Order: sequence, then structure tokens, then C-alpha cells
Amino acid sequence: MRKQIAAANWKMNLTLAQGEELMNEIVQANINMEKNQEAIFAVPFPYLITNKSITDKAKNFITAAQNCASENSGAYTGEVSCQMLQSINIKYVLIGHSERREYYNETNQVLVKKINQALQNNLKPIFCCGEPLLVRQAETQNAHIEMQLQESLFHLSTEQIKDFVIAYEPIWAIGTGLTASSAQAQNMHAHIRNVLANKYGQEIANSVSILYGGSVKAANAVEIFSQPDVDGGLVGGASLVANEFVEIIKSLKK
Ligand code: PGA
Repeated sequence: MRKQIAAANWKMNLTLAQGEELMNEIVQANINMEKNQEAIFAVPFPYLITNKSITDKAKNFITAAQNCASENSGAYTGEVSCQMLQSINIKYVLIGHSERREYYNETNQVLVKKINQALQNNLKPIFCCGEPLLVRQAETQNAHIEMQLQESLFHLSTEQIKDFVIAYEPIWAIGTGLTASSAQAQNMHAHIRNVLANKYGQEIANSVSILYGGSVKAANAVEIFSQPDVDGGLVGGASLVANEFVEIIKSLKK
């Protein structure tokens, strides 16, 4: 069965001490993780090494980066390369979060370079896609998402897309308290799987984990995650509260 993932996205929040306290509380909950389940923590760059030393001790807990450079190395002040992330044994990196697309002008073409960098350095991308409110209101969200997938992922080989992780995050639901209904999430996730199946075949499409993101919390996680094509969540605000995120991890399908 494909992986079921609860991924925390701390964004630009918490001091080092606050982050450690949060992690320790979550680890102490001693969640019984199944083989196909993972709890991923995308933390700010300066915390990666210390956070990894915590997640390495807990079964199926993994530390991830929130971003990476589109270039390999060189004169790019302030950037962090995939080679650097690999050198500290990071395994996952978020790519294409809507906040990166919106505030840092990351286009689908820039994301291709980041994805290629990640794969060349043995990092697994968690590729984010999602439509703004106007697109949803115009009911053109399916075409919008298909374009994002086509422009950023369709250069990949079957081998590269197998076991990939995609996060569908409708922008109107991020940090707004508005959540897509479980039916809206399921419909889009089925559409994404269908787009992948048309390009790569059904078997490969079935191996891809598709996470839902946008105001996931303990109170709605079970319902959203129970949808057949929803394989967990990418969680912002609620991932900063230990007991919320513990419940979210426990809501993953077995
Ligand atoms: P949210 O953020 O859970 O606070 O809506 C989700 C995300 O941006 O990944």
C-alpha cells in the first residue's frame, strides 16, 4: 500500500527551543506507527540537524526541508542547495508551496529545476500544487492543477515518479480556517491520480501518495484522510500544537 503521511510544515515559526519542546512532546506521545505510515517535519533550515537527531530516534519520524535552491552550487547568496541537504542526510524537501510561488515568484519552470536538483541528490520532493479562490469560483480548478502537474512533473521518467509525494493545497484553504470538504478533496485527488495514470499508467499513479493541505486539524483529519485517494495531510497551523499534530498522525489510514 502506498505511504500514508502526516507532514508538518512549520513555515517561519518557532525558536529552536520552542521547536525542540514541540518535538519532544510529540515523540513522548509514543504513537504506534504502522509500516506504511510516516510523520514528516518540515522545519526551518537552521533546525534541520538538531531536529533530525530527534526524529532519528522515533520510528517513521522524518525531518524535511521546506525549500531548496534551483541551482547546484556557487554564487547564490542565502540559498541552500540539495547537495547541502543531502550532506546532512535529509531525505525530503517541500517544493512549490503556494507561499513560495506567490511571494518568491517560483514558476512551474523554476520548480522543474528544483525537482531535478532534489532527485539528483537523492532527495524526495513533496510537490505542492493548488488553485487560488478565483480559479475555484470559475470551476476551472481541474485544468489549473493539471497544468501545474504537466509543467513541473511530466518531464520525469516512470521510475522517478513512482512513489512520488504530491500535496494538493487549495490556496483559499491555507491558513484561512476554510477547509475543502472531504468530497472536494477526494474529487481533486482522484483527478490528480487520473492525470498521472493517463501519463504514466494506473499502477504508477496508484503508488503516488497524494496529501491534502489547507486548515487540516485534529477535528477534521479522520474524515479527510479516510477518503480513498487522500493519503494524509500537509499541515501548517495545527502542526505547531503538539496534541493537535499527534491526533492528526493518529488519523492516518492504516
Ligand atoms: P495550514 O497550512 O494548515 O495552516 O492551512 C497548510 C500549508 O500551508 O501547508
